[in-house]
Amino acid sequence: PVSVYADEHIASKAVAARIASLIKRKQAAGEQAVLGLATGATPIEVYAELIRLHKEEGLSFQNVITFNLDEYYPMQPDAVQSYVRFMDENLFNHIDIKRENIHVPDGTLKKEAIADYCLAYEQQITEVGGLDLQVLGIGRTGHIGFNEPGSAPNSGTRLVTLDDLTRRDASRDFGGKENVPTKAITMGIGTIFKAREIILMAWSKKKAPIIKKAVEGEISGNVPATYLQLSDNVEFILDTEAASELT
Ligand code: F6R
Repeated sequence: PVSVYADEHIASKAVAARIASLIKRKQAAGEQAVLGLATGATPIEVYAELIRLHKEEGLSFQNVITFNLDEYYPMQPDAVQSYVRFMDENLFNHIDIKRENIHVPDGTLKKEAIADYCLAYEQQITEVGGLDLQVLGIGRTGHIGFNEPGSAPNSGTRLVTLDDLTRRDASRDFGGKENVPTKAITMGIGTIFKAREIILMAWSKKKAPIIKKAVEGEISGNVPATYLQLSDNVEFILDTEAASELT
């Protein structure tokens, strides 16, 4: 289903409220909540609202386990563009999550260690019972995580090559496209699909054409997000501008 909100602020609060209610439901049952998280501009306000809920309304993250979708490769965790740093600054440093419960793909590995690491990442998700909720943004190539066009629907966590458009879109963060890594480690489409709930968020006119393709287009590896049409557990949460080309 598709839910359209007046603006991204209201939409972000609604997503944060859903995450908070999942966390509290799990807490009440004495269980852990396993969240799949995204970086980028899209979820920033969701994380800001979760921080507010923690600081002002006592929402605790003691029972929360997180797995981030992706990280550039290579990438040092303390680099400005690192997703480890992004998550610390935009969420983890401001809540009471246990450090050992946080997982972000490691951009510092030696090439020959990556395949085993990716299998272990999948296994860690499985061992905690799978993802309860996966939060996604969408790239203008139609990528979810860094699953670029050509990604297989059953793909797992792996090293991928970034699309040229993705690197162009990231060029501002890196001070030029030539500085954007050509690779990334990402959860696969198959990994994302196993989540019990999936929320894909998109804001602004810039995302309207790809949202039209993702929601209404033919299901195809050329637009990886179209695979989400095959899931019964996905919700597209949009602002009016991102939804503006939907029929
Ligand atoms: C980030 C990720 C990407 C982004 C997408 C949109 O962890 O997996 O798929 O969600 O590139 O990025 P923004 O939100 O910056 O437009």
